[in-house]
Amino acid sequence: MRNFASAGLYLMLALAGSSPALANASVAANGTVELRPGDADYVKLGQQIYLEQCASCHGVNLEGQAGWRDKMVDGMRLAPPHDKSGHTWHHPDELLYQLTKYGFAAMIGSDYKVSMPVYDGILTDREIIAALSYIKSTWPDDVRQIHDRINADYRLNKAMENRKSGS
Ligand code: HEC
Repeated sequence: MRNFASAGLYLMLALAGSSPALANASVAANGTVELRPGDADYVKLGQQIYLEQCASCHGVNLEGQAGWRDKMVDGMRLAPPHDKSGHTWHHPDELLYQLTKYGFAAMIGSDYKVSMPVYDGILTDREIIAALSYIKSTWPDDVRQIHDRINADYRLNKAMENRKSGS
């Protein structure tokens, strides 16, 4: 019974992943966000956005700011790299999108001080997802695969939470 229920859940997720709504909109109606590192249009737009908006802190080669692991400036952390040496790939698509759009303060706590701008109102959802898709497109295959699994786990947990709360 248990296996049957989770098989159903996997099927639902597989269907959700290929839904036309998600293919056309950057953020699906249910809040699902999916990066598109394999979509040449997104990656091209994303590289342009990244160079204009993100590279000044995160580095032209996604290398981050020197000393990011332990140095603080004015009580704030330095920008971490977005390549495999950083921890961007530890987080699921949705969290990366929300951090970029709404900022750390909104996600972690309002007195958290951070130099990174809040991009809500500066970049569209499509542009944010493109920038993050570009970042993911630069990761080696093994890191991309781990990140895909992190996303699958995150979506499964979310679906189970929604099911429990009956929504
Ligand atoms: C003014 C500098 C600055 C700019 C510009 C900037 N960031 Fe950041 N970013 C930071 C800092 C600093 C952190 C780390 C904050 C912390 O951990 O306290 C960060 C963290 C992040 C993280 C979380 C990484 C992790 O490993 O947890 C993401 C994702 C991110 N930035 C994406 C972007 C994107 C996408 C852009 C461009 C659209 C951008 N940032 C532009 C300074 C910047």
